[in-house]
Amino acid sequence: MIPPVSAVLLTGGAGYIGAHAAWALVDAGREVVVLDDLSTGIRANLPAEAEFVLGDVGDEVLLAGLFARGSITDIVHFAGSIVVPESVTNPIEYYTNNTAKTLALLRTIVKAGIPRLVFSSTAAVYGAPKTIPITEDTPLAPTNPYGASKIMSERMIFDIGRAEGFSAVCLRYFNVAGADPAGRTGQSTPRATHLIKVAAEAATGKREGISVFGTDYPTPDGTCVRDYIHVSDLVAAHLLALDYLAQGGPSVALNCGYGHGFSVTEVLDVMDRIAEQPISRAIAGRRAGDPPALVADSTRLRATFGWTPGHDDLAEIVSSALAWERKLG
Ligand code: UFG
Repeated sequence: MIPPVSAVLLTGGAGYIGAHAAWALVDAGREVVVLDDLSTGIRANLPAEAEFVLGDVGDEVLLAGLFARGSITDIVHFAGSIVVPESVTNPIEYYTNNTAKTLALLRTIVKAGIPRLVFSSTAAVYGAPKTIPITEDTPLAPTNPYGASKIMSERMIFDIGRAEGFSAVCLRYFNVAGADPAGRTGQSTPRATHLIKVAAEAATGKREGISVFGTDYPTPDGTCVRDYIHVSDLVAAHLLALDYLAQGGPSVALNCGYGHGFSVTEVLDVMDRIAEQPISRAIAGRRAGDPPALVADSTRLRATFGWTPGHDDLAEIVSSALAWERKLG
């Protein structure tokens, strides 16, 4: 008997995390459809086996056409805008891309009766919490439109899922970094702002150096502390989320991090060691809106999915990011 086709739709699937998910799903033998407008995504980072559809996640006619084929049973919704300072200067773009377009997607999901959704959320929903580590019960208090746009989407997903009978997992990402250990994809985003990507660009001579944003935080060495998670471990959580939903698991929001943090100085020291040359560091003032420390309590992720990290090693994260940066040329 021919098994029924069950495809996964990845919105924003040509982006940094989406492309890693596309590779992991193809590796797992899943059929993958990528929907991306290529505003920041890169088609060349995708596996040839994934079907590519150029388009906007807010285009309900396009989505309805994709769902009408009948093969899509799962959606991982990565598409969105992700630069925190940009969200402060241009909140309309963030509420449009992250909130309004998620509502459009939800409308078409409900009409088509798609049963399962995994959503890319963020640690930014917690703002600057008073206590570390951060559990899912830590108060939701975003300090910028990016975090607010994501928490509004989570609310819509849970409310609409409850009323309409679909289940969803919202994964709250901490600091995602690193690249596919097999070197097939990595972070290629133009005008990157994330620490490890910027440091890799500096280590390969694409930038003159790096600015350290603040050395006077109430942390052990004065620089901000973050919980860096290898993109492959994050993507593994998405695959487990799909299995969990397929087995009838109820909707849930889960933190994705390792549960320990590193300072900006520690990260740059590791990059210097791995690149075997020091990056020039300029001490700059604090960047607006940076909380001193963000570290996940990932107990719920581990307990719910049986997730165990395979790459919880800052040196491995940094060296995979550097290897990808060198490959980009
Ligand atoms: N940093 C530098 N120099 C740089 C870049 C970053 O010193 O050139 C510092 C930042 O000030 C911060 C740390 O490195 O202290 C990490 O910064 P990133 O920009 O890499 O990441 P953020 O912690 O600001 O952002 C992450 C996620 C966002 C999420 C946010 C929640 O990438 O999606 O956490 O606060 F919204």
